[in-house]
Amino acid sequence: MDIILLGPPGAGKGTQAKRLEERRGMVQLSTGDMLRSAREAGTPVGLRVRAVMDRGELVSDAIVSALIGEHLENSGTGAIFDGYPRTHPQAEALEILLEERARKIDHVIELVVDEEALVTRITGRFTCSKCGAPYHDTLHLPKVAGVCDICAGTDFKRRPDDNEQTVRTRMAEYREKTAPILPFYEAKGLVRRVDGMQSVEAVAAAIDAFLDS
Ligand code: AP5
Repeated sequence: MDIILLGPPGAGKGTQAKRLEERRGMVQLSTGDMLRSAREAGTPVGLRVRAVMDRGELVSDAIVSALIGEHLENSGTGAIFDGYPRTHPQAEALEILLEERARKIDHVIELVVDEEALVTRITGRFTCSKCGAPYHDTLHLPKVAGVCDICAGTDFKRRPDDNEQTVRTRMAEYREKTAPILPFYEAKGLVRRVDGMQSVEAVAAAIDAFLDS
């Protein structure tokens, strides 16, 4: 099963993708994570995208679709597309990439959220440096302070683009370029809407209900 998680910055795409990986053995394909790895490794792609990401704007379609193409082979058990596609050209590129592998999107899960609440969510966010599990200063702390629930790692990090000004740009980019791809998937009958303002567990249960239907 291949699914897309769609929603603005902070909607909970990464959080839910990690849970789906743990519980269903699916593979999270996050273009945001791929780009951050490229930045950290100082690759030519990483150097090209750095300033764009720090401004909160979208990286070029060609770069992200190439990254997805490179990682698709490792997701034979089913992919969770997290943060991809984000534009019409990316949605079309994904169709072709999947078709070439005799695969197709089964569900597009739209996390419906209140953007103002998301600013709080994002500016308090931190992740485990080892496994990437997401946490929050007030909304979702590790069960044992300073120890990752998933991998027991003790080192955590924050993203440079998680400040209010950049978050506002990322949200505007979502409204202008990403939300307009929903009708493409609606026409195929693939869009399932989940209230992303519920607890993490309730959102996960609602997603499970769609995947099991
Ligand atoms: P990317 O890394 O994809 O960031 P994003 O879409 O802005 O999404 P986030 O990772 O910020 O949010 P999320 O929805 O995953 O929320 P999370 O689960 O972490 O992209 C970063 C940049 O890379 C882009 O700006 C762009 O420059 C570039 N890029 C990436 N992909 C691209 C593409 N395809 N095309 C072009 N450019 C691209 O949750 C947030 C916080 O809330 C966490 O602290 C979490 O613990 C908490 N939380 C989650 N769910 C709940 C809940 N239900 N209740 C309470 N708290 C919750």
